[in-house]
Amino acid sequence: MKKERVVVLGTSLLVTAMLIGCGSSTTDTKKGQESSEVQETEGNHDTQSNEGGTDESGTASNIPYLRQNHANYKEYGSNATPVGVKDASAKSIHWTISANTEVDAIKLQEHLKFMEERLQNNQNPRAWDKLFLMEAYMKYNGYYATSVERSGTDIVVSKNATTACAYEIISAHADAVSGDFFARGAIMVDYSAKAENILDSSACSDIRTSALNYIAQRQKHRGK
Ligand code: HEM
Repeated sequence: MKKERVVVLGTSLLVTAMLIGCGSSTTDTKKGQESSEVQETEGNHDTQSNEGGTDESGTASNIPYLRQNHANYKEYGSNATPVGVKDASAKSIHWTISANTEVDAIKLQEHLKFMEERLQNNQNPRAWDKLFLMEAYMKYNGYYATSVERSGTDIVVSKNATTACAYEIISAHADAVSGDFFARGAIMVDYSAKAENILDSSACSDIRTSALNYIAQRQKHRGK
């Protein structure tokens, strides 16, 4: 690995750590001439009830692109599938991803910005899946924060939870992203049973009733 890449990533990680401290969210960094501006994509007709962006127009969620190009993303500095590095004691998950091209990196950055905005706006991508409903519940209620930073083809994502229950949910989501989305481009597995197990655990006892109500009000049948 070239020395200057190490310096750039080191700076990137430092900035990310600062952003987490500030509770900031999706952020762009400029590296020399490289700008990581996220362009607004038109044609987003995504609704609360579809798969979260798998509709016919392609949409700003970039899910069809990510699914088709899932193999273009690697763990930084290796040829392995990206994995969220977990720290249970800090209740945090940290991703350091290298994309094949800058376009690939921008597509992922746009995906994250789009999803975070949806969750913060009280919307529910993939509302047939209780794991995604639970993640939306956690984000909307401020139980975890996400920060995203891109530098050229590298993307750093950090998710920081404030409760053990929220950590278990973002952890299960990270497993899905790594093991199915990135590894296989498989986006139709239903993780509801996993979410139910987490909700049944003692870590979630204080929010269980509220979360079950949230799910009951919002869960859609698959395909609707
Ligand atoms: C069923 C389609 C998908 C849906 C509904 C979806 C939705 C989401 C949501 C809600 C988040 C969390 C945002 C936040 O915490 O602020 C997220 C994060 C993420 N997504 Fe997707 N996504 C989908 C497909 C994909 C695919 C195909 C890829 C890559 C091949 C991908 C890569 C990621 C990554 C790397 C993250 C950040 C890590 C994490 O949250 O664990 N997603 N996505």
